[in-house]
Amino acid sequence: MPDDWLNDTRESYDTDAAGYAEKVRGLLDMHPYLRAGLAVFAESVRDCGGAVADVGCGPGYVTRHLHDLGVEAFGIDLSPEMVAIARHDHPDLGFEVGSMTDLPLADRSVGGVLAFWSVIHIPDPAVPGVFEEFRRVLRPGGPLLVGFHVGDETRHSSTGYAGRPISVDSHRRRPETVSRWLREAGFTIEAELVIRPDDELPGAIVFARAPQD
Ligand SMILES: C[S@@+](CC[C@H](N)C(=O)[O-])C[C@H]1O[C@@H](n2cnc3c(N)ncnc32)[C@H](O)[C@@H]1O
Repeated sequence: MPDDWLNDTRESYDTDAAGYAEKVRGLLDMHPYLRAGLAVFAESVRDCGGAVADVGCGPGYVTRHLHDLGVEAFGIDLSPEMVAIARHDHPDLGFEVGSMTDLPLADRSVGGVLAFWSVIHIPDPAVPGVFEEFRRVLRPGGPLLVGFHVGDETRHSSTGYAGRPISVDSHRRRPETVSRWLREAGFTIEAELVIRPDDELPGAIVFARAPQD
């Protein structure tokens, strides 16, 4: 029996997939530090080889951005409606339904893992298991990039961007907490970047690397 929070997250994004897709349209154009982070990540993946799994890809615009940076990339998302939008908007890229808690990928099968603002929906006790999954599917030495909201609290959303009822938690975290969990899963931390630290809701991206073996 899947966890309630996983069902709630799936149903919420299914309900609000179109609203979310509209909200993030053109988002990367407005975020130079995210683009810079993705460029560094793409360079690492090109050096190591292999495809990137964009885990929690949503409507697929970041998967597209990586592809346009010359990286083979595909998306996985919990929400079938989100995957349907990603497939519609980017018919030349691959998107599959799946959960980062149990990735539909073989051991050591991907060159990089990107998790942009998707781990935010995983409650604390389940995060170490998700990071173990990322390590399992990554080739030795493969790069991982995790993006999230910075803070200490959990916010509950009951209305989606399109105004429909949803029920999903978003967990804000400190970069040092995320890095500690990653180290415990065997990753090496290469960089932590806090974006707009003076904003009410800063973002952060953590660059990590899977062990060589
Ligand atoms: C805030 S959106 C981020 C989407 C995209 N990565 C972006 O940066 O705009 C969170 C996405 O993570 C997906 N998600 C949440 N929990 C997930 C899980 N356990 N496995 C896979 N995807 C998940 C949601 O369905 C949603 O599409």
